[in-house]
Amino acid sequence: MKVVILKNAAEVAAYGAQIFKKQLNKKADSVLGLATGSTPVALYNELIALANKGELSFKHSKSFNLDEYLGLDGDHPQSYRFFMNEKLFDHVDIDKANTQVPPGNAADPVAACEEYEQAISAAGGIDIQLLGIGRNGHIGFNEPSSSLASRTRVKTLTKATIDDNARFFAEGEYQPHLSITMGIGTILESKKVVLLATGSAKAEAIKATVEGPLTAACPASALQLHKDAVLIIDEDAASALSDPEFFKHIERENQQLEKKLGQ
Ligand code: PGA
Repeated sequence: MKVVILKNAAEVAAYGAQIFKKQLNKKADSVLGLATGSTPVALYNELIALANKGELSFKHSKSFNLDEYLGLDGDHPQSYRFFMNEKLFDHVDIDKANTQVPPGNAADPVAACEEYEQAISAAGGIDIQLLGIGRNGHIGFNEPSSSLASRTRVKTLTKATIDDNARFFAEGEYQPHLSITMGIGTILESKKVVLLATGSAKAEAIKATVEGPLTAACPASALQLHKDAVLIIDEDAASALSDPEFFKHIERENQQLEKKLGQ
């Protein structure tokens, strides 16, 4: 996998946004796989700024989010539908009818998971999937021990994830312990994967993702099987890697090559 190590979170967001810009400008009707969490917010702000400057448009794109809490309506402030509206969709020209987040309030969640998979297929598959990573190596809500071939399904959250996300819920507020999440198999079918990680709390998860082994104990390690996955991380998130200089060297070479090819 490609690993791009940058100075800080702002550079990570700007670099990631350029990849999305390139994608949307190459294919206006791109199918975007989107993510929630604190890390993607800066990237969404970059995309909003680029859209405001007329450098990209979401007008013809479609989107599918990775996951949603089971038991929350889309108008609940902690739902991921609410998050996406607030952080991105309300500020760009995407048609909300073309944005999908797994239905946290589905009467039949199992059927809803199947329908979500079918909707992704009917859209032609995901062109570019954005990911964060949990401290435990989860991607989406695919917690450690998730099958590396898993599809969209109902998934129980680990205590670590519940604790990490407790900061978003008010004292005493109901916090779901279940989710609907795309599976690792679903994510691996995206044509391109862009994973963002910043901060030293993610360093061990990044090391496990990049240096292996390929294991359900670190769901993100499945990206080793993807032919076009890029990890964009800051120095802190890279701090446990055995040889960060190697990745920096590769990136310099790639930049030179792109310049030469006029890309
Ligand atoms: P974070 O979450 O960006 O809030 O750290 C990432 C994740 O759990 O996928």
